[in-house]
Amino acid sequence: MRNLKFFALTSLFALGRSSEQHQQPNADLKPWEVTRLSTFSPSGRPGNSPLAHLWATIANPSSIPAGSGASFEPSTANCTVDWTWSVEEPYGRAVECTTGGNQSVFSDSISKWTIEIIKANSNYSSPTEDFDVKFTLTTNLTANGEDYYKVLAGTQHFAIGENMRGTCGGSGVCSWGLMEESNPVLVEPTIVASS
Ligand SMILES: *[C@@H]1O[C@H](CO)[C@@H](O)[C@H](O)[C@H]1NC(C)=O
Ligand SMILES: *[C@@H]1O[C@H](CO)[C@@H](O)[C@H](O)[C@H]1NC(C)=O
Ligand SMILES: *[C@@H]1O[C@H](CO)[C@@H](O)[C@H](O)[C@H]1NC(C)=O
Ligand SMILES: *[C@@H]1O[C@H](CO)[C@@H](O)[C@H](O)[C@H]1NC(C)=O
Repeated sequence: MRNLKFFALTSLFALGRSSEQHQQPNADLKPWEVTRLSTFSPSGRPGNSPLAHLWATIANPSSIPAGSGASFEPSTANCTVDWTWSVEEPYGRAVECTTGGNQSVFSDSISKWTIEIIKANSNYSSPTEDFDVKFTLTTNLTANGEDYYKVLAGTQHFAIGENMRGTCGGSGVCSWGLMEESNPVLVEPTIVASS
């Protein structure tokens, strides 16, 4: 399995630009960390907001080798998905996150995160209680006159009783968040595009 992965990755790199002679194997892709994953569903009562929410905080805590000794800086992002409860479904919509990190004058590396809620492949699927989340990191960098670019993506399952818990109030609102003992939830990134 490991060899297969490595092979797939090597093939992917072979498609990249020739300037990338020092491409790194998968071992250099450290897992991402989800430190917040909360959802809220409204009561549905007249006069109350009909919006449901999903909030996430994700971090890529490690730099990613770009080539020629250059690397993409670590970054973090806060993501919010809002939708009208029981009218809309939030699935399959990539939403831009607010990205932070060390995008200082010292670094030319620019990172952008998006989040997408995906319908879980389970018997009980709900966008606030049992769902998959796909995070996508697009990052680019100019170093030594070369432009580097990578898109990475990772998907993780979140569900009540697995890695989330919370409560529903008498009014009908429900709030769920990560179990403390599950935090941070790790997401394995894979390279989607590279140059
Ligand atoms: C994410 O939200 C937290 C809590 O509000 C805040 O401290 C942090 O600076 C935010 N990060 C980004 C990248 O916006
Ligand atoms: C950003 O990166 C530069 C150069 O690596 C470093 O000197 C600086 O301390 C970093 N800033 C933060 C907030 O991490
Ligand atoms: C769905 O339910 C069926 C029947 O109870 C079970 O065999 C199957 O494993 C369940 N699938 C999932 C993804 O939980
Ligand atoms: C990186 O991406 C940003 C936003 O898409 C773009 O403005 C910038 O020119 C890109 N930089 C490089 C080096 O490709």
